[in-house]
Amino acid sequence: MKDTTAGAAVETAAGYGIKPSSSDGSHLLVRRAMQFTMFVVGFAVLWMFLYNTASPFGFHGFSHYFIDESAKAGYDPKLQSVLRNASMKDKTVIITTLNDAWAEPGSIFDLFLESFHLGNQTKMFLNHLVVITWDQKAHARCLALHKHCYQVETKGDNFTGEAFFMTADYLHMMWRRIEFLGTVLDMGYNFVFTDTDIMWLRDPFKLFYKDADFQIACDFFNGNTYDLNNSPNGGFNYVKSNKRTISFYKYWFNSRNAYPKLHDQDVLNKIKKNSFISNMKLKIRFLSTSYFGGFCQHAKDFNKVSTMHANCCVGLDNKVNDLKILLEDWKKYVALPENEKNQSHPSWSVSCRTSFGRAKQRKQKNKGWLRRRALAVTV
Ligand SMILES: *[C@@H]1O[C@H](CO)[C@@H](O)[C@H](O)[C@H]1NC(C)=O
Ligand SMILES: *[C@@H]1O[C@H](CO)[C@@H](O)[C@H](O)[C@H]1NC(C)=O
Ligand SMILES: *[C@@H]1O[C@H](CO)[C@@H](O)[C@H](O)[C@H]1NC(C)=O
Ligand SMILES: *[C@@H]1O[C@H](CO)[C@@H](O)[C@H](O)[C@H]1NC(C)=O
Repeated sequence: MKDTTAGAAVETAAGYGIKPSSSDGSHLLVRRAMQFTMFVVGFAVLWMFLYNTASPFGFHGFSHYFIDESAKAGYDPKLQSVLRNASMKDKTVIITTLNDAWAEPGSIFDLFLESFHLGNQTKMFLNHLVVITWDQKAHARCLALHKHCYQVETKGDNFTGEAFFMTADYLHMMWRRIEFLGTVLDMGYNFVFTDTDIMWLRDPFKLFYKDADFQIACDFFNGNTYDLNNSPNGGFNYVKSNKRTISFYKYWFNSRNAYPKLHDQDVLNKIKKNSFISNMKLKIRFLSTSYFGGFCQHAKDFNKVSTMHANCCVGLDNKVNDLKILLEDWKKYVALPENEKNQSHPSWSVSCRTSFGRAKQRKQKNKGWLRRRALAVTV
């Protein structure tokens, strides 16, 4: 692309040249032509630079962009079919990702599905839930329990086991997720992404902001939904498909190269204040933990809670244990007579956060401690 432009510039510049009659005049003309060429080439390079700055695709992405545009029809027909079947009227789907460890009977996936049945009017959302699976076993398990399953082609990746936090497998899996979600936006679908260790207790759509492009739950919410200093948790977000979000997801995904040791959420924290994002006017909102809570910060009022996330809790067994307790708490609340629901003030009897805190203190004493943020996430 650059070469062609430069070539064209030389041709144009040559067109201005008058055949030299003397060696002095020739030098002058050559210099003029050179200056003009430099100007045009410089302009072309500047244009390329601006274009690349304004677009998130980096150098390689440049051609990638056009391929994407022209190959709109080239998406996996299976994925198109799954999304179409699961879509709400306004082209919104709910997406979760699943690997084998979480899909085991009695594990997180079972609890996740159960929450839709126990939640207040959340059962219907199962019709719109697409489960993305990373391996054959999880896929088989999904098909046995649910109607919208899609297996991502992983070509040699093996996400079967529990992907331990911040290992190479874990990072890879997280980035595949961002890439995949970007594709979903590209295909024109809005989505709610939800981790599987999030319990759906009430309709979240009633609580989403109408005018936001990208809204995301928090580990810790500081009270201001606009404040970029909130600690977002990538495990739950609602994203509308539009030019800004498509571009944002590409930018986010490409930013992984700049921070090879960080996962998607920490990279989001790095880039959320970038001028690229403020310039594109992406409307970001942070969701209050009063409604979209977790073990880090509980949604304290049972009358308000929409979702609860087993964040700030390390280890599959701990998560499963506490999510079971959480669902029991919820069932007890639901069983209360209507007039008592607002009078009694139940609290969640989960405890993983406490053990998480203890583990943290122990580790802090032993030095080798990861930063708090690094652990206060979906594991
Ligand atoms: C989508 O739904 C149609 C009609 O119910 C069905 O024939 C098709 O197999 C479904 N597609 C997928 C990928 O499940
Ligand atoms: C469930 O939702 C219905 C309809 O919105 C409402 O009348 C009822 O009070 C809700 N129950 C609980 C436990 O939130
Ligand atoms: C994937 O890893 C699991 C253990 O985590 C192993 O049992 C399985 O054989 C591996 N599958 C492939 C295709 O390498
Ligand atoms: C209970 O209070 C919440 C606000 O805290 C309100 O939204 C809800 O409608 C009330 N539910 C009942 C059953 O009165």
